[in-house]
Amino acid sequence: VSGSTEPARRWRRLWPGAAVLAAVVVVGAASATPRGDTRRGKELYDKQCLVCHAVTPRFHKEGPSLSGIYGRKAGTVPLFTGYRSLRGSQVVWNDETLDRWLADPRSFGDGRDTKMILRIDDPQQRADLVAYMATLR
Ligand code: HEC
Repeated sequence: VSGSTEPARRWRRLWPGAAVLAAVVVVGAASATPRGDTRRGKELYDKQCLVCHAVTPRFHKEGPSLSGIYGRKAGTVPLFTGYRSLRGSQVVWNDETLDRWLADPRSFGDGRDTKMILRIDDPQQRADLVAYMATLR
């Protein structure tokens, strides 16, 4: 007789564990998209990006000027002729697409070759860089 109620009782004992697990998953998801800090983003940008990307409109180096990049369609900065992987792209730059690009430019989109070879592994650093780029007018 008691055997038939046993599975239900075991479930009730498992419940708190499941709730904890769900909470961990939610916290994990939240920390996967950290809030960006524009000041830290500028510091990183000056160190790692400025060498190839000016922030002055129409001043291009090995990479295009990133003036006004946020909200722009990828691969469409006027007068920049060095596009490879982004030429003809349908992507629009926003938090999500910029994050993916910085995480791994080489496997972004259809994976065509690109001269942008660095990867930013730290999600917090990517968020900081994206926050800074969104301020570039
Ligand atoms: C070695 C030079 C180089 C460095 C360093 C570099 N990039 Fe790039 N970047 C490029 C090139 C070249 C492209 C064009 C990519 C293509 O079409 O293949 C590009 C493209 C981009 C684009 C898209 C531009 C557009 O017109 O759609 C963004 C955004 C970008 N880079 C951000 C960054 C950030 C942020 C950093 C620093 C973390 C960085 N890049 C570092 C060379 C570089």
